[in-house]
Formats: sequence, C-alpha cells, structure tokens
Amino acid sequence: MYLSKEEEKILDGEMGEAYRLAMEVVVKVGDVLNAEKLVKISSAHISGVSYKNIGDEGLDFLRKLKINGAKFTVKTTINPAGMDIIDWKKMNVEKFFAKKQLEIIRIFKEIGAIILLSCTPYYYLSINKGEHLAWAESNAVLYANSVIGALTNREGGPMAIFEAIVGKAPYTGLHIKDNRVPTLVIDLKFLKKILEKKKMYAMLGYYVGFIAKKGVPLIVNYPKELISSSSIRLFLAAIGASSGIGLVILENFSPDFYEMKNLDLNYIEKMTPEFEDIVGISDRIERSINGNVDAIVLGCPHLSMEDIKKLAAFFKYNIPRKRIILFTARKIDKIGREYINILKRRGIEVYYDTCMVVADLRKMNIHNIIVDSAKAAYYLSTQGYNVRLMTLEEVLEYAIKK
Ligand code: F3S
Repeated sequence: MYLSKEEEKILDGEMGEAYRLAMEVVVKVGDVLNAEKLVKISSAHISGVSYKNIGDEGLDFLRKLKINGAKFTVKTTINPAGMDIIDWKKMNVEKFFAKKQLEIIRIFKEIGAIILLSCTPYYYLSINKGEHLAWAESNAVLYANSVIGALTNREGGPMAIFEAIVGKAPYTGLHIKDNRVPTLVIDLKFLKKILEKKKMYAMLGYYVGFIAKKGVPLIVNYPKELISSSSIRLFLAAIGASSGIGLVILENFSPDFYEMKNLDLNYIEKMTPEFEDIVGISDRIERSINGNVDAIVLGCPHLSMEDIKKLAAFFKYNIPRKRIILFTARKIDKIGREYINILKRRGIEVYYDTCMVVADLRKMNIHNIIVDSAKAAYYLSTQGYNVRLMTLEEVLEYAIKK
C-alpha cells in the first residue's frame, strides 16, 4: 500500500506507541483488503461500548490504549452503553456493572470521544455528502451511505477505534465510487400498495438484507413513506441486521442514485418480491410469546426527536394500558423535554444512553417483548427473549387496548 511520508513516520513510532499501533493495524487491514492507500476521514463512530458486550477484555484493551497515550484525531462518537448513565438504578443495574460501564465511558472521554451514547450519530453531527467516515454501527453506516451520500464501510468496533486515532481508513469498499453501483434491483411494484396500507418497512428491510446478503441493492417503485424519517430508520437497521450490506440505493432519493444515470440496469439481476415473501420473514426473527407481554419496547435505532414528538402527540390523548419503554439519545432530554414530560406523565419509561439490545432487560423483569424494529426482534430473539414484531401502528393500537 502506498504510504505518505507522514504515515511512514507514524508507523516508525515517531508519534508515540498508541499512534504506531493504530497505524500498524489500519495498514495491515488495508493490505489484506488490497487497499492502494489510506483516505482521510472526517468522523468515526465506535460500537462495542456496553460492558455487557465487551466485558473485562474490552475494558483492559481501552485501559491499555489510554496508558499508551491514545487520542482520537477526528470527531468520534460512541454507540449506546449497557445502562442509562444517570438512571441506571431504575434499570436494576448492579453496582459492579455500573462501575465498569462508567470507567469505559470515562476512558472514551479521556481519549477524546464525544459521549453521544447513541446509534444515530447522523441526527446530531453535521455530515455532508462525499465525506469519508469510519463508522462501526450498521444502521448508522447504512444511513450515512444511503441517505446522506457520505462514504463509509461497515467497520468493526476495534477497527473504528484505530481509524479514529489515525484519522484515516483504508481506501477500499464503499470509499471507492466505482463500488457504489447497484448489484441487484429490487422492484417493489407488486408490494407498493400493500406496504402503503400495512407499513411493514422493518420487515421489508429484513427481507431485502436476507435476499441480497451483500452488494448494493437498488430499490425501485417503493412507497413514498419508506423514506420518511422513522420508516427509513427501521428499514435500514433491519437490512443491517440481516446482511453485510452497507449501502442501499433508493430510486430518486439516495445521492448515489443521481450518479448512476448512464448505468444500464438491464444487465443487473432483478427481483420483484410479493407480499408472502415479506410476511414469511417475521417467522425467522420472532420467538413466540408465552403468557403475558411484559413490555412494549421502542427505539431501535434510537428514537429521533420527530418520533418522540409523534409518540407524545399520540399519548397526550390516549392512555397506555401496557408497560412501555422508550430508548433514545440523551440529547433528546434537552431539546425535547416538554414531549418527554408528556410521555413520562403517562407512566412511559424513557431511558437514554442505552438500548434494548445492549442493556439487560431481564433485570427490568422483561422477558416477553413487543417491538416495531426487525433489528431488535432479531437480536432479542437470539438472546433468548420472546419477541413479537409489529408495525408501529399495530403497537400503538395494542398499547391502549384494555
Ligand atoms: Fe441502536 Fe441498539 Fe438497535 S445500538 S440500532 S438501538 S441494537
């Protein structure tokens, strides 16, 4: 791989051990991926923040980085942790867990991270089309590539840490324009009407990922509502859960769509799914609920300000009859306090800094769960929870039913 003089110096250890180690890893990975060079990134987003997921091994890794003098050199945000960092006692989190979790966050802060603790950095950072990023949360990667037109691969958690230190990523995969062209066309013409009615965008996303597995799907003839802020959030997250895909091109919407004007789509494989295909997919991610539902859990990916406003408007006039838990970014507590208060007055629990998958819901006495996110359904089922996936409309109807 071509390395600039400055990159060589870092590799020789002239800037210190942490920098050298980070550069060594980034270059090695770049070599394996046949990258011709490194590319400057404007932002990194790190996953693997919850103590539940990274454990003592991950914590030791971070301690060593800090001791070696690591510093992030680009704007770096971090994914949800294993608990609300203020209201963790309400989540029944044990003291020893809280101590370790807070240490992880403290180290990230000392290394230079912005303590966002959310998987939706795209709502809070100003990222522009054409910017190179190193993001490690699949829903955020899909959003950055498919909605904003930024360029990032799906990085692993540790890799994003090294890239954040170096400020560069291997110039490979989705960083290269030529790799951002459709490899499969998914035509929703048979589904458009029924999707408009049933709004099964999370299931659709899971299906798209499941069928395509990799590459760059181009989605055509989709209902307009798919690109609304809450539907696209659920759709892209579900693709991330069922595949290794990092970019989906949406007709007349994704910035990359406008760059493929001369491409002859006749040479690309095409699929026209029908309703049964989408419905069948939920059997793969649900685990049947025995007995009563313990809670409705929303916020995978984290709820946006717009989602919170919509929920507040609904529950202002409707009384919830089930336990409802929402997960969102702490920033919402500041900018949307009046809406959060409406929800809390209705007995709805709102947690920040964490999410249903990386926290321990069992500690909150929750085993049987209803969600509107296919990503959450998939990961919670694999953790042994009993899960039912519904659309948000179905969830709300169920929530107020006596
Ligand atoms: Fe975000 Fe947690 Fe879902 S990190 S995408 S809410 S699994």
